[in-house]
Amino acid sequence: MELRRKGVDVVSFGIGQPDFQPPPNVIAYAKEAMDAGYNGYGPSLGMPELRECIADFLNEKYGLDVKPDEVAVTAGAKAAVFIGMLALLEPGDEVILPDPSYPLYESVANFVGAKTRFVRLHSGNNYKIRFEDVEKLVSSKTRMIVINYPENPVGSTMDRKDVEALVELAYEKRFVVLSDEIYDHFVYEGSHYSTLQTDHWREVVYYVNGFSKTFGMTGWRLGYVVSNRELISKLSVIANNMYSCPVTFAQIAAAKALRDGLEWFKPILDQYRRRRDLIYSRLLSIRGVKVIKPEGAFYIFPDFSEVIRAKGVKNERELADRLLEEKGVVVLPGTAFPKEAGVNHLRFSFAVREEDIEKGIERIKAWVAE
Ligand SMILES: Cc1ncc(COP(=O)(O)O)c(C=O)c1O
Repeated sequence: MELRRKGVDVVSFGIGQPDFQPPPNVIAYAKEAMDAGYNGYGPSLGMPELRECIADFLNEKYGLDVKPDEVAVTAGAKAAVFIGMLALLEPGDEVILPDPSYPLYESVANFVGAKTRFVRLHSGNNYKIRFEDVEKLVSSKTRMIVINYPENPVGSTMDRKDVEALVELAYEKRFVVLSDEIYDHFVYEGSHYSTLQTDHWREVVYYVNGFSKTFGMTGWRLGYVVSNRELISKLSVIANNMYSCPVTFAQIAAAKALRDGLEWFKPILDQYRRRRDLIYSRLLSIRGVKVIKPEGAFYIFPDFSEVIRAKGVKNERELADRLLEEKGVVVLPGTAFPKEAGVNHLRFSFAVREEDIEKGIERIKAWVAE
């Protein structure tokens, strides 16, 4: 932002935020809700109409029987993860996290005093989580595994058999599967198989989703949890003391948005798929860069090891700094996610116009060639 203020033409692959606005009717619903007086506090676990709409939406999508009291609306998916970890983890409990993964999970696990164990995702397996690797990390102290699919930062998804095997293992060994499925509509190959479709979800799954990504509503702060009703009712204590309630008029609009369905999202998915194909092929055209094609989300995680070596750069952090300073291109260092798997890697968000993808990658290519 500082460089932009100085007049530098910056291309940003940085922030994980859709570049589209919420549908116009949803914005109109929010305005109407404010005019209708939805400006006060609401229930800590969310407005009943939205809890019901979320249950109906999931039931229709996956053929389930989720009840409104098994749903909690939260102030963003981040708050859903935060209150879940706070409710479920005690100091000394072990939590299994993917490496690489969204940094929130490690931060909150550390904050509550849990011990983190990382399961490495391998490019050779298209960054899909390997059941055997998880199994090896499970101990008598394991209280939770966090999974996120499609995954930030690698864009990997999970196959049905792996989702089922993992939930089954959690059921046998009595730990929780915190499943962050916030990118469930950004799936470019096949379809999304949810943890809510497994037999034992009520016993072991803490399902997280939200409106930020699919609806382009990152600033509205609306997320949700689905889990068993005893746990959901306990979450109200934390939610109440932390943020009182999610934003009231936003919830009324979100409920109507869910009722309207997602027909409007289809062209957006096609557009994001084109961007995915473009950035993948353009990155591959840079000498020395290796990259796995993401199956979902809007991130790609290329390996710049050879470039780093050839250019005599210290590491991915210095590489990211130099691309910004010398070429005005924003990328994130892989080690922000948050451990070793990101060494020598960069994360690109491709929630970016095709012209900017071309321009940004062309600049990196020129820098590598210089
Ligand atoms: C995997 C994942 N979960 C959760 C979030 C945050 O979602 P929210 O805006 O609903 O808090 C993000 C945002 O980047 C994310 O990538």
